[in-house]
Amino acid sequence: MNKGTILVTGGTGYIGSHTTVELQAAGYSVVIIDNLSNSNIDVLDGIERISGIRPAFVQADCTDMGALKQLFKEYPGIKGIINFAASKAVGESMEKPVLYYRNNLNTLMNLLDCMTEFNVKGIVFSSSCTVYGEPDENPVTEAAPIKKATSPYGNTKQISEEIITDVINAGAPFKSVILRYFNPVGAHPTAEIGELPNGVPQNLIPYITQTAIGIRKELSVFGNDYPTPDGSCIRDFINVVDLAKAHVKAMDRMLENEGSDKIEIYNLGTGNGVSVLELINTFEEATGVKVPYKIVGRRPGDIEKVWGNPSHANTVLGWKADTPLADTMRSAWAWQCRLRERGIM
Ligand code: UD1
Repeated sequence: MNKGTILVTGGTGYIGSHTTVELQAAGYSVVIIDNLSNSNIDVLDGIERISGIRPAFVQADCTDMGALKQLFKEYPGIKGIINFAASKAVGESMEKPVLYYRNNLNTLMNLLDCMTEFNVKGIVFSSSCTVYGEPDENPVTEAAPIKKATSPYGNTKQISEEIITDVINAGAPFKSVILRYFNPVGAHPTAEIGELPNGVPQNLIPYITQTAIGIRKELSVFGNDYPTPDGSCIRDFINVVDLAKAHVKAMDRMLENEGSDKIEIYNLGTGNGVSVLELINTFEEATGVKVPYKIVGRRPGDIEKVWGNPSHANTVLGWKADTPLADTMRSAWAWQCRLRERGIM
């Protein structure tokens, strides 16, 4: 059964590629638009090896309205959009704020304009738990207050949520689901697709796997003097395939359920907080590979502890992140080993 065509912006990226696979498995056709600024065209091969279907691909930038309109004309009848296309490095956003505001906000606004013009029924937007800042209580529900953003990256997520809300409240003829991710980690169990950071990784898991394989000498753990049980920060690490599946549930509900609200917001997490040191331990136990690390000072801007309450997504979307963390760590390691086999890293 073909459930219709979905435009996946940023579809060759980390979460976009995993979501493309799950959309295809659920019966959707996928058109990817990506400027390949932070991903590689070979990802299409990985997707095809998993699902047997090569998604349509347009190499273009979503900030280019002409290219976007051309795409909608070339692929008529796009029913839904999942918008992953965005710059996402917190540190870089402090140095190049205009790049972040321009990329992330112009992309969204162009897509919203196209939705009306080309009769697209709904958009799923990738947001982040960063909108909660340092939360007053954990686990965080969707009702928790939005805190002032501590980086231009985080601010683009907050402003994007506000833009979507304003546009829908102004009577736009489409729906939206905003998904607030906690910390997506791991790779597809086939090790055909995964996370491929440019240069020195900023995020924890790629740094761990690159250290484990010997690309980096040792991991720096940013702080062991936080008021947490072992002194390191606590996060909610969610398996990327579990996360991808939530997008399919959100799309199904938005397109098929007449009773769903015009705008819905869901936290996507596991409900469990895991510390940085616990995560390193889990990785070592799951893979049998040691990760040399040293404790260094805190990283400016880091949140001390944040984990999500996913009950709303569990009940309304009928979705749960249930992959054990050890399996997720093994998938991250298998992916790192695959990159080595292929001579990529
Ligand atoms: C950050 C952003 C989040 C964004 C995500 C993806 C904030 C508050 N969070 O998440 O919105 O979606 O990046 O880019 O803006 N750590 C180490 N050593 C390392 C790397 C990380 O100890 O080499 C620690 C960090 O201090 C942190 C934890 O690992 O406590 C997770 O860090 P990271 O993977 O960068 O994600 P977040 O900062 O949680």
